[in-house]
Amino acid sequence: MDTTEFRKRGKEMVDYIADYIEKIEERQVYPDVEPGYLRALIPEFAPETPERFEDILKDVERIIMPGVTHWHSPYFFAYFPTANSFPALLGDMLSGAIGCIGFSWASSPACTELETVMMDWLGKMINLPPQFLAGKDGEGGGVIQGTASEATLVAMLAARTKAIHRIQLDNENLTQGEIIGRLVAYTSDQAHSSVEKDVLIAGVKIKQVPTDDSFSARGSALRKVIDADKAAGLIPFFLCATLGTTTCCSFDNLLELGPICNKENIWMHIDAAYAGSAFICPEFRYLLNGVEYADSFNFNPHKWLLVNFDCSAMWVKKRLDLTCAFKIDPVYLKHDHDESGCITDYRHWQIPLGRRFRSLKMWFVFRMYGVSGLQEYIRKHIRIAHEFKDLVLQDDRFEICADVILGLVCFRLKGSNELNEVLLKNINDARKIHLVPCHLREKFVLRFAICARTVESSHIQFAWKHITTMASVLLKKQEQSTE
Ligand SMILES: Cc1ncc(COP(=O)(O)O)c(C=O)c1O
Repeated sequence: MDTTEFRKRGKEMVDYIADYIEKIEERQVYPDVEPGYLRALIPEFAPETPERFEDILKDVERIIMPGVTHWHSPYFFAYFPTANSFPALLGDMLSGAIGCIGFSWASSPACTELETVMMDWLGKMINLPPQFLAGKDGEGGGVIQGTASEATLVAMLAARTKAIHRIQLDNENLTQGEIIGRLVAYTSDQAHSSVEKDVLIAGVKIKQVPTDDSFSARGSALRKVIDADKAAGLIPFFLCATLGTTTCCSFDNLLELGPICNKENIWMHIDAAYAGSAFICPEFRYLLNGVEYADSFNFNPHKWLLVNFDCSAMWVKKRLDLTCAFKIDPVYLKHDHDESGCITDYRHWQIPLGRRFRSLKMWFVFRMYGVSGLQEYIRKHIRIAHEFKDLVLQDDRFEICADVILGLVCFRLKGSNELNEVLLKNINDARKIHLVPCHLREKFVLRFAICARTVESSHIQFAWKHITTMASVLLKKQEQSTE
């Protein structure tokens, strides 16, 4: 493909994408295919000779689209949102074209410097304490990680290194292995499963802090677990607090947890993967109070801030905590401006070496929406979630299972878990809308997350009508079977 053909095909691809997004509502939100469907539609070997673009595009409709779950359909209410916007797509297109690998300042200065500035812009948008910003001469700063899971892992590994160094200062004879064997991390019983996975990688122990009736981890519960662990000879070193849990969007109490962590030399990391985007609205910023106690904070603009995957924003108060933990400097990566002054070599802030020019899509989104446009978007989703909650509350066959604070509504039929499991299966099998469940303590609960950029009140009304129709059929069947 030469540049002349690229111009032509590029325009066709933009048209295809625009049509896809514009008419996504007409597509079935969840696919009908069975596992292994695709292999049967595709040759066993790569083509020996070049094929035509038209044929590939035709195959996208024939082979790919039938197996796509349409996350950006306004009938998709599963998991949490994943961001999608035209400015982000355009920024990503340019990033692909520049195609640099920004592991050091010298490997592409604009890639590094735009990221540092975008992370400062975003930090200011959510009113992060200034210690987290790089500024011209700050000790902190932000980095774009791929995912929230990686951000937690990076924080945990840096905390592990810091704890080992501190403990070895007082106990020269303790080996690294002996210390790691006694390190214990904490998270709440509602935290995302990625924290547990990160602990497996870091080779440390983990304890769950039981949450209160609002599914929030509180200081008193953390204190109890720490005291028991210390008495058993363990060394508490890390806490991952959650703002906006995956199950029900509950919030850990940072104002209680933070001082305990600071007193006990425990690194406090905050995972606000979904909820973090809402903090750009002053009326939701209170949910972040207590961040001043944290060592690191993370949220995913790729979930709810219109910046396409992947873009997970992580800040640390002391960037030396990361760069000391992960610095390996072979001669072929060195350059004349290594980590001096405002220079950042982001390879020391993350696990992989390579990294894409992800800040471009942030820059495009922030400039083309403006902070006010992004705030309006978040507020609309939250308004729609409350509209859905009100619909649920008007039907006394249903119950709301957790406080609705942002864009997630947890609800269920009053009745057994089995009844709700069948209800969810029937709803999803009809393929009109898509939801996923969660467990809240012993209850099987349906999660209704406001996801698509284009979702409107009419889609919520449609979804609720569908859910209540399914519920009526199910309850009638149940009634008949007990007669
Ligand atoms: C609270 C929370 N943490 C972490 C994650 C994992 O996110 P990622 O895919 O960015 O690792 C999620 C995903 O929904 C989440 O809700």
